[in-house]
Amino acid sequence: MESMGPLSPDTVRLVIVLVGLPARGKTYIGRKIRRFLTWLGYRARSFNIGDYRRQRLGYHHRHDFFDPNNVAGARARQEMATAALDDLIEWMKDGGGVGIYDATNTTVERRRHVFERCTAAGLQVVFIESVCEDPAIIEANIRETKLSSPDYVGMDPDEAVADFRARIEHYTRVYEPIQEEECSYIRLIDVGRVIVMHRIQGYLPGKLVFYLMNLHLVRRPIWLTRHGESEFNVVGRIGGDTGLTAQGEKYAQALAEFVRDHADQPPVVWTSTLRRTIETTAQLGVPSLQWRALDEIDAGICDGMTYAEIAEQMPDEYRARSADKLHYRYPRGESYQDVIARLEPVIIELERQRSPVLVVAHQAVLRALYAYFMDKEPEQCLRMAVPLGTVVELRPGPYAFHERRFALM
Ligand code: F6P
Repeated sequence: MESMGPLSPDTVRLVIVLVGLPARGKTYIGRKIRRFLTWLGYRARSFNIGDYRRQRLGYHHRHDFFDPNNVAGARARQEMATAALDDLIEWMKDGGGVGIYDATNTTVERRRHVFERCTAAGLQVVFIESVCEDPAIIEANIRETKLSSPDYVGMDPDEAVADFRARIEHYTRVYEPIQEEECSYIRLIDVGRVIVMHRIQGYLPGKLVFYLMNLHLVRRPIWLTRHGESEFNVVGRIGGDTGLTAQGEKYAQALAEFVRDHADQPPVVWTSTLRRTIETTAQLGVPSLQWRALDEIDAGICDGMTYAEIAEQMPDEYRARSADKLHYRYPRGESYQDVIARLEPVIIELERQRSPVLVVAHQAVLRALYAYFMDKEPEQCLRMAVPLGTVVELRPGPYAFHERRFALM
C-alpha cells in the first residue's frame, strides 16, 4: 500500500498514558481506543499493570498491598509499572504504532518518569485522565468489572466491594489530578459529560478526542442485517442495484415483526442507498436514514459478474483477491480497507446512539462493522458467513459486545 506520509498508520508513534483512580473506566477507555485504532489499521496495543501484577505476583492482593505506606507493596508495584513500561517501549521500537499504558499514574512524579522515558525514546505522549465522582457510576463499575476480576475470585461480593473501596482510598490520598503545563492531555469528566483538552495537536490525538466525545455507557442493542434476498443474489451476481425477490419481501415482513417484538423504543434505522436495503425496511413503519457509506463494496469492473465469470475472464484479479482480500482493490472499485475507511463515521455515529439501532446493509460492510464491535482483526472476518435472513444482535457488556443471532427465515 502506498505511504500516506506522517498520517499513515505505518508512521505513527504515539503513547497514550491513562490516568485516574481505580474504577474510573481507564481500562474500558484503553480497550475502546485499542480496538478502534486496530480496526483502522494502526498497530495498537495495551499494557495493563494489573495484568503484570497478576501474572508475576499472583492474585488475591488485598487493599493493604496498595497502601502507599506499605513499603514492600509500593516497591512491588513500582517494579510492575517499570516492567510494563519497558515492554511498551520495546514494542514501540519494534514497530508498534500506538502503545497504551494502562495504569493509575496518579502522581506527578510517576507521570514525569513515564513522560521522560517515552520522550527519550522519541515517542509522542498524550495523557488521558478519567475523572468521575458520580457514586452511581463508580458503584456500577466496581460491581460489573471488579467483582469478576481474578483478584476477587471466590470472595463474598460485599467483602470484595469493601476491599476495592479501601484500595481506591489508598490511591485517593496520593492522587494529584493532571495539570502539568508542558504535557498534552485530555481530561474526561463523568464519562465525557465534560472534556478538557490541553495542548492537543495533530491528526491522531484529534481523532481520539472526537472518538472519546461520542462514547457513553447506555446499554442498547445494535442489530445488523443484510437486505432480503435480491434478484442478483438468486443468480449469484455481485454488486448491482436490483430489487427484492418475493422471498426478500418476506424477510422485510419478518424483520418488521422482529423489531416490533424486540425494540422497547422506536429504533434508529439506517440503510445503504441501494434499493435492496431500502425495500427491506419498507414495512418497519419508522423512518430510515440512507448512508452512502453503507453501500456494498464497489466491485468496479467486476460489478454484476458472478465469481465464476471473474475467475474465468480475469484469473489474475481473482487470484490477487484470494491472496489478500483485505488490501485487494477491484479495478476502478474498492478494497475492504477502503470500505473500513469510509465506515469510520458510521462507527462514531453508532457509538453515539443511545436508542436501539438497526443497520440494514451488505455482506462486506457488515463484516467490517462486525470486526469493530467484536474486537476482531479485520482479516479474521473477511470470509465470515453473514447469511441472508438473519439478524446479528450486538449488546454492549462491561468491556465487550455480546453477540446473538436470530435466523428469521
Ligand atoms: O454476493 C453478495 C455481495 O454482497 C456482493 O455484492 C459483494 O461483492 C460480496 O457479497 C462481498 O463478499 P466478498 O467480499 O466475499 O466477495
